[in-house]
Amino acid sequence: MMGCMGGPGRPFYASLLDMPALTAEARRAIEAEAERRIGWGTQAITSGQARLHHALAANDPVAVQQAAAGVREGLLLLESGTAALRAVDAGMPPRQLALTWFRDQLGLPPAEAAPMAIDGGPWGLSWYHLTSMAFLVTFLVGTLLIQHARMRRINALVGRLSAAPAGGPAPGPAPAPGKPSEPPTDGPSGSPARVVGTAPVTPAPASAAPSPAAATAAARRPWSGALRVAATFRETPTVKTFRLVEPGGGDVPFTFMPGQFLTVSAELDGRTARRSYTIASSPTRRSYVEVTVKREEQGLISRHLHDRVAVGDSVEVSAPLGVFTFMGEETSIVLIAGGVGITPMMSVARYLTDRSYPCEIFFLYGARSPEEFVFREELEYLQKRHANLHVAATMSRAEGTAWMGATGPISKEFIARSVPEIAKRRVHLCGPPPMMEAVRAALAELGVPKGQVKTEAFGPARGVAPGTPAPLPTSAPAPSPGPAPAGDAIPRVATAEVRFTKSGRTGALAPDQTVLEAAEAIGVEIDYSCRVGICGACKVPLVQGAVTMEVEEGLPPEEKARGVILACQAKSVGNLVVEA
Ligand SMILES: Cc1cc2nc3c(=O)[nH]c(=O)nc-3n(C[C@H](O)[C@H](O)[C@H](O)COP(=O)(O)OP(=O)(O)OC[C@H]3O[C@@H](n4cnc5c(N)ncnc54)[C@H](O)[C@@H]3O)c2cc1C
Ligand code: FES
Repeated sequence: MMGCMGGPGRPFYASLLDMPALTAEARRAIEAEAERRIGWGTQAITSGQARLHHALAANDPVAVQQAAAGVREGLLLLESGTAALRAVDAGMPPRQLALTWFRDQLGLPPAEAAPMAIDGGPWGLSWYHLTSMAFLVTFLVGTLLIQHARMRRINALVGRLSAAPAGGPAPGPAPAPGKPSEPPTDGPSGSPARVVGTAPVTPAPASAAPSPAAATAAARRPWSGALRVAATFRETPTVKTFRLVEPGGGDVPFTFMPGQFLTVSAELDGRTARRSYTIASSPTRRSYVEVTVKREEQGLISRHLHDRVAVGDSVEVSAPLGVFTFMGEETSIVLIAGGVGITPMMSVARYLTDRSYPCEIFFLYGARSPEEFVFREELEYLQKRHANLHVAATMSRAEGTAWMGATGPISKEFIARSVPEIAKRRVHLCGPPPMMEAVRAALAELGVPKGQVKTEAFGPARGVAPGTPAPLPTSAPAPSPGPAPAGDAIPRVATAEVRFTKSGRTGALAPDQTVLEAAEAIGVEIDYSCRVGICGACKVPLVQGAVTMEVEEGLPPEEKARGVILACQAKSVGNLVVEA
């Protein structure tokens, strides 16, 4: 599969044997073919690497083998293309070019400068005949040697990637284009919720042993430690970027995939609070990571970061986490973002443009006003440099501004206008819940299959602000209809109890309350990070009872089968016993 650019046709070097001289026409044909091969090769390597990471993360040896074969194929294409360009530049005749390439592949010394006579060779055979026979023999031997070399390359590559820290791609070499100075903007923040699965979980027998896959997953824990704030950038009146570096200098101590997030922890008022922030920078920039944070008026961590954290300060982080990634493994990508939901899309766009992704990138963005358009200048800059990046933005409130572009929300018409043949393309979506719902509906109307739409949720699925647990009365008036403001103490009626075996405490549990919230309400410590069911940090064994979970992305099926639950998602109407 050679992706958006098609694929190589007949054997390139074999066809060169038919070209007697390097005419202008032959030169053009070789150069065009060589450039195509470089493009195919680069793409195959990129997508092979991406598949390799996913396969390694999934501990799937068959997929690892297939992905490594893709990388190997890409290397060969890249090599053959660049060798051809070099040879044409040196004015080498096509036939000699082919022979030189075969010799290079076989590791043979350069041919003696012997003109190829048509006849007059030994044993009554023409030189042409003898050369062809020698070539065929060496070609056969060479094929075997190439195969051997390929296997060694694959093993080395797999070994290198397996040894890399959790979850990241092999870093690319691209240097950073200067960050555009002080762009305006941000957008409406969001705390989307996604329902993934609601199958009840009941605990498995305590004797069940962890599977090898679970053991591997456990071994791939995110890196945790302190990073230093090296710079901050004001993106919009309410959005700031924090550039984090390794305090001792050098590369950041973990690798990640575009779209993954990190968790910031801070001790505030005697309690540890954690929030997740997408790494908005590209994995190709190895010496820093950037998070771009919207200041929530009453938010605990976002206000802490905006108001108190300054250049030179340390920030405790865990990274990388998350599966909302894209590394160029498809023939095009549509990135649709609203407000600060732009951060994962920005990481993907920065990564793909850094790596010269050869396929189409459609970047659709919705903000409240031009002033809140996060990364506007950088997107304009990238679009000017990369013809395959198509940015389309719409502002819901543009009256009284100089905005000349589209207005209103991201609608079906806006999407159809901005992305041709969207039904065939993979779509990534992140933004505030109403925007995500509307875009999902629009995509369905445009014929995009559900499975082609990947989404990221940016906040707690329900209203209670994490870190500010609501007191839980054991009996209380029924909750008033309509959504309660986030962070408010929501009156709840407890219908069950949850007993925590390690701490020996028992708390009340309302049907709409998670095990994590119930634990926090009575001071039982359960680790957490994303609070939306995607990171797996809050996994705890369920000893007794049954729970439902809206989102289970952070819970491998084999762990679920053993009775492990995500405390941030687990709800129950019956009594529970949980190991915490
Ligand atoms: C995977 C993932 C990636 C994310 N990436 C990003 C990102 O790149 N950038 C980003 O900005 N965010 C991102 N988020 C959201 C982020 O994790 C936080 O949820 C967000 O910053 C708010 O955290 P906070 O501590 O400031 O607010 P919290 O204290 O958690 O409050 C949550 C909300 O409740 C409101 N609230 C709190 N207390 C009260 C009160 N007493 N009365 C009324 N309202 C109240 C706050 O204003 C806020 O809107 C991401 C989330 C996830 C899960
Ligand atoms: S805290 Fe991330 S899955 Fe529960």
